[in-house]
Amino acid sequence: MVQIWAHRGCSTRCPENTLSAFREACRYEIAGIELDIQLTADGELVVIHDERVDRTTDGHGMVKDFTLKQLQALHIAAPQGMTERIPTMAEVFDLLAPVCYDRGLLINIELKNSKVPYEGMEEKILTLTGQKGLSDYVVYSSFNPDSVRKIKELNPTVQTGILADKLSDCCALEAATRADALHCDVDCLDVENLRGKTQAPVRAWNVSEPFYPCMLCGAPYDLTKLEAHFVTDMIVNQPELYCPVYRDSVCSQSAKKVHERINGYLLNDV
Ligand code: G3P
Ligand code: CA
Repeated sequence: MVQIWAHRGCSTRCPENTLSAFREACRYEIAGIELDIQLTADGELVVIHDERVDRTTDGHGMVKDFTLKQLQALHIAAPQGMTERIPTMAEVFDLLAPVCYDRGLLINIELKNSKVPYEGMEEKILTLTGQKGLSDYVVYSSFNPDSVRKIKELNPTVQTGILADKLSDCCALEAATRADALHCDVDCLDVENLRGKTQAPVRAWNVSEPFYPCMLCGAPYDLTKLEAHFVTDMIVNQPELYCPVYRDSVCSQSAKKVHERINGYLLNDV
């Protein structure tokens, strides 16, 4: 069965890569959550997709030119007229840790270091993950093959994925990067007889789905068809289309605690 991951959290119902998007994702029976990290001017790991803040916040400029304090003064428009701020990776770990421990939720951390070559990003994220006790729950990925290889060299026990548009490019980079998984565009499954070449999981993604605040319900992918094309996992903006909500379990208790904590300090907390 194809496993479902929440792409930038539940990024159709909530602003992408925010604590509310991750909180929402924790409600569903998903395998994991995907998110993106960048580095601030003062070397803090923050969760935001773009190198610039312009698209998702009310600010202008490059993430690398903001200190954490400056960055967290920016506002992200959220539902019901509320605002959120760019979370740190540490905050996201604190939010998700109980769910990782209780239900084995995985976190796919994409290092956004193809356009800005963030010096020391690999060491920083490995250290932080270790400090939070979450090494067994993280998959690191990047479009930068040198970075994927470096992560594995720094710690051969961690899980990695090589990102590329085409599955064939992922395959071509698998050996050199020692990647554990292939993360490709769902529209570029261009390898026949994949299992004759590799047993690595294929985690497919698609960035052209609707993003928040588009509330239109997209059509779900045909997972059976994707499975026939060797896809093992789908990273989607709308996991709610595929997965039931957790109910009546220790997991939902954890999720409830997470929700309470988030509701306590997230919105308008700037
Ligand atoms: O990790 C898969 C996917 O997130 C890559 O594309 O642009 O959404 O980071 P993007
Ligand atoms: Ca990503």
